[in-house]
Amino acid sequence: MQRRLLSSAIGIALALLPMAASRADVLPPPVAAWSDASLPVQTRVALLLKAMTREEKLTLVLGYYATDFPPKGYKAPADAHYGSAGYVPGIARLGIPAQWQTDAGAGVATQHSSPVKRERTGLPSGLAIAASWNSTLAEQAGAMIGAEAHASGFNVMLAGGVNLLRDPRNGRNFEYGGEDPLLAGTIVGAQIAGIQSQHVVSTVKHFAFNDQETGRKYSSVMLDDGAARQSDLLAFELAIERGRPGSVMCAYNRVATVYACESQYLLTDVLRRDWGYTGYVMSDWGATHSTVAAANAGLDQQSGIPFDDERYFGKPLAEAIAAGRVSEARLDDMVSRILRAMFATGVIDHPAKERPIDFAAHAVIARQVAEEAIVLLRNEAALLPLSPAVRRIAVIGGHADKGVLSGGGSSQVYPVGGNAVPGIAPTSWPGPVVYNPSAPLDAIRRLAPDAEISFASGDDPVAAAKLARNSDIAIVFATQWTTETTDFPIALASGQDTLIAGVGAANPRTVVVLETGGPVLMPWIDKVGAVMAAWYPGAAGGEAIARLLFGVANPSGHLPASFPQSMDQLVRPGPIDPKGLLEEDKADIVYSEGAAVGYKWFDSKGMKPLFAFGHGLGYTKFSYDALTARTNGSRITASFTVANIGKRAGKAVPQLYIAPVAGGWEAPKRLAGWDKLSLEPGEKRAVSITVDPRLIATFDSAARQWRIAPGDYRISVGAASDDLHATVVVRVAAATLPVGPLESDTAK
Ligand code: BGC
Repeated sequence: MQRRLLSSAIGIALALLPMAASRADVLPPPVAAWSDASLPVQTRVALLLKAMTREEKLTLVLGYYATDFPPKGYKAPADAHYGSAGYVPGIARLGIPAQWQTDAGAGVATQHSSPVKRERTGLPSGLAIAASWNSTLAEQAGAMIGAEAHASGFNVMLAGGVNLLRDPRNGRNFEYGGEDPLLAGTIVGAQIAGIQSQHVVSTVKHFAFNDQETGRKYSSVMLDDGAARQSDLLAFELAIERGRPGSVMCAYNRVATVYACESQYLLTDVLRRDWGYTGYVMSDWGATHSTVAAANAGLDQQSGIPFDDERYFGKPLAEAIAAGRVSEARLDDMVSRILRAMFATGVIDHPAKERPIDFAAHAVIARQVAEEAIVLLRNEAALLPLSPAVRRIAVIGGHADKGVLSGGGSSQVYPVGGNAVPGIAPTSWPGPVVYNPSAPLDAIRRLAPDAEISFASGDDPVAAAKLARNSDIAIVFATQWTTETTDFPIALASGQDTLIAGVGAANPRTVVVLETGGPVLMPWIDKVGAVMAAWYPGAAGGEAIARLLFGVANPSGHLPASFPQSMDQLVRPGPIDPKGLLEEDKADIVYSEGAAVGYKWFDSKGMKPLFAFGHGLGYTKFSYDALTARTNGSRITASFTVANIGKRAGKAVPQLYIAPVAGGWEAPKRLAGWDKLSLEPGEKRAVSITVDPRLIATFDSAARQWRIAPGDYRISVGAASDDLHATVVVRVAAATLPVGPLESDTAK
């Protein structure tokens, strides 16, 4: 069937060729061969490459923005899917489709400047998905948005954000997988695998160290190789192993003064040589700065013309090849990598095309993800779950009568049904601010039909406090909008702290629901009874929140990032760029904490956060017993039992932490694995987790290998990084592990 399609495409292409072309030029003998899906990908790539002209090869390595960009007098190519992020022309003669590229991790996005929005299903944010600690669910979530991309005519999705959360102020934390490389790499990798299961190439991005937005286009990140391999790079490495993304997007920033998209260290030494990566590297939009340096360092595709200052690939690349400054073999390598990703993901054999989408079914998936992603942080005196019999409920703030917030920037998904709260500034880039039309207030009303439910916008804190005082329960919704290009204070803005403190003082039976990009400060914490971190909860977020509040669903999310008590606890507590030096390329971003990111930083400084990494409450209780550990070479397997000792069914997230008894790591302990399991009341199950040996090693840069120090290792299991229930010690022999992929069977 596929072959028939290809030959008819070729037939049409041949008919359109100018008469002057000789028969030898147009005869396509190997076509049948490379369209044979039973051949190994490598063989198909080799056959196709051989049939391509230099001009055609150059076509595949240059991408265009798919939306008009008037400031540069730019018009999107006619064949692009208008309003999306990117387009690389195909080669009709050979049956190579165009690459139609869409952002991003929460679903099919539309560029802010496009007047026509593709309305699609928005997942909860990337950070929320990580908070589910459920990689099966993450994969299903990826498959859902991959299916929407494919049914929208896209075959490349610019998803897979896995930059580590080093600073809670990063405006893009919501797009990423949190502060721990194992958790982030595993969950983001699972989402990538899900996207690619739908014949859509996914990226992993932004490679690497683009961990804040301030100065993202100019700053140079300083972090030594060993620490990098144990932190940010480990997150990428694990995501690549788990998800096998067809593409890696190199970042805007510099790394040790060299632009990431021309970094030999990142693109060749680490990615290709050490990790054996076989996909292609595309640049972020406006992140290419050269022809020869970029091509020779390992950039395979320049993206997003006109965002770069110049076209570096295309004609200048042809000239560089003619001058012998870039080899012909390198161009072949670039093209082979792109074609390999397209064949391996099924982009060529299963062409993307527009067709109807079952939005109702997809909203259910978005709701299920939200229900596992929302974290119950505090629940004094079992205030939650609410009884449907509660008489008077005050719902306050956060536009809870209209919808739930989403994160801004290029990844913005425009919801089915439109923006529930239009007109909030900024209404143009890096906005608009978009609310999914899933109103918590409506969902609460549905679950408590007999209650008297009042809504106050929260604009008048005195009126809100009065309403709370006259109610049995107050639920305050607090929002923090974050977006690409900007970093944000971690304090809630617009007087929301005052509002919450006032409502909490008026009625201690106050529940705070936070819709934020990541961690925020909570100066009012002692005044309120319960707090839920709902992140940006996606297309059905309002429903998910209500179901968790009333115990229709039992919260099972756990923090993928530490919530600090105050600014003083941050690694860099001062303003991110007080003098604007990062924007002028006159300062470096120095990650002096090395690999001690997040809870590792808190632990190594002996600081107690407000809520620790891994923390998450529910409406039942679990016990963790019978912990044992054994080794097989450098692999430690820990076994234990988890029992539901409460009265409701729930999902436990037993977490394994590990540390050498003698110390010597960047931090007192590392996450080494976890599981997520559903347990009925009274049910008990045995769990075994095998630890990826790289997680008990340190990276020896000089020898380019992982080194495991001999000795005793303490292994603990518990419900959070600060709530460990059982510990055993196991002896491990000295070992070295080669750099590069290991079979990873660590975590679910
Ligand atoms: C972002 C990328 C995105 C690209 C295309 C850039 O501004 O950093 O994450 O994929 O735009 O929209």
